[in-house]
Amino acid sequence: MTIFVTGGAGFIGSNFVLDWVGASDETVVNIDKLTYAGNPENLKSLAGNARHVFVRADIGDADAIGALLTEHAPRAIVNFAAESHVDRSIHGPAAFIETNIVGTFRLLDAVRAYWNELAEDRKREFRFLHVSTDEVYGSLEKEDSPFAETNRYEPNSPYSASKAASDHLVRAYHHTYGLPVLTTNCSNNYGPYHFPEKLIPLCIRNALAGQPLPIYGDGQQVRDWLYVKDHCSAIRRVLEAGKVGETYNIGGWNEKANLDVVHVLCAILDDLQPRADGLSYASQITFVKDRPGHDRRYAIDAGKTERELGWKPAETFETGITKTVRWYLDNQDWVENVTSGAYQNWLGQQYGR
Ligand code: NAD
Ligand code: DAU
Repeated sequence: MTIFVTGGAGFIGSNFVLDWVGASDETVVNIDKLTYAGNPENLKSLAGNARHVFVRADIGDADAIGALLTEHAPRAIVNFAAESHVDRSIHGPAAFIETNIVGTFRLLDAVRAYWNELAEDRKREFRFLHVSTDEVYGSLEKEDSPFAETNRYEPNSPYSASKAASDHLVRAYHHTYGLPVLTTNCSNNYGPYHFPEKLIPLCIRNALAGQPLPIYGDGQQVRDWLYVKDHCSAIRRVLEAGKVGETYNIGGWNEKANLDVVHVLCAILDDLQPRADGLSYASQITFVKDRPGHDRRYAIDAGKTERELGWKPAETFETGITKTVRWYLDNQDWVENVTSGAYQNWLGQQYGR
């Protein structure tokens, strides 16, 4: 059997593909447009492995997707492909509308045409799993309960609005056409292959490069952090046992303020690779202008996924973050390769240097 993974050269997608090929005997057709965030180097350990087929294509290219569906006849699709960085969505929302909304629509429509022609038993077994985010629920106050699947959608950034729209399209394709869909809404991931535009890998990179660790506003914004391999195991479980048409929240029960996260990173680095001058990396922390419309707090209630599907994260924040820092220390070449060229322009645009 074969599954399609879209966006499988990005951060979470490549972790998912690596885990999938390691844990199952199914073939993965990995469809990725290779934007700045897609990196085939993440998958180099799969070179020569016949169970990983990489195709460079856009999820919005209905002809290409249709041809791939006919050629490979997958039993499931896991849709990671998206523009994923909130700050980039503030500078340039158009790409987010194009991929996250129009692209998801075109993908859904191509999949619907394929699914309609399947034999009854294959039709019943087929799944379209859409990977989404907790950001669609908006921002919580300090005293609010964590997001449940029943929370109202209140997206606040062009990124989260585009993801919310894609979730609604996925829901509509189930409700209207019967497409067997599943949706997952996950909190902030961290771990290997995380592109250094996001808080954790950016701060590890900047710390080691002797550059400022930029904290937006007062640094008291709260996120729930989940080690990426735990997100992958949750997706596998939802694909296997999730109830068609349902959404599942995925999170790590690890609410942390940004400033605390960066202090933890600095302490681990101080221990594993101390600065030559004996000062803590925390001395590089710099408060910078806040993100416009910055959501104050996200928190996920993953109770439904745990109760109904028996999934639980394996890592605590402490174990996951230590593994992550070690991975970045051991993979400086990877960081070097992804931060040359266009990345420097992004730093200039976002942080003014
Ligand atoms: P990422 O930006 O690292 O990777 C996205 C991948 O999608 C890249 O490989 C990119 O080349 C590819 N892509 C972009 N546009 C495409 C298109 N039109 N067609 C085909 N491929 C395209 O993102 P990520 O952090 O790995 O996130 C993956 C998914 O998970 C996204 O849908 C995101 O919204 C969601 N998500 C991310 C997090 C997180 O913390 N990173 C949390 C919850 C949900
Ligand atoms: O909640 C899930 C979401 O998590 C995913 O849907 C997104 O794809 C993913 O990018 C992530 O979004 P965030 O905006 O929360 O992640 P980011 O790493 O960009 O920022 C984390 C927090 O750190 C946020 O409050 C903003 C802050 N921050 C970020 C950067 C890049 C800083 O203080 N300084 C920075 O330089």
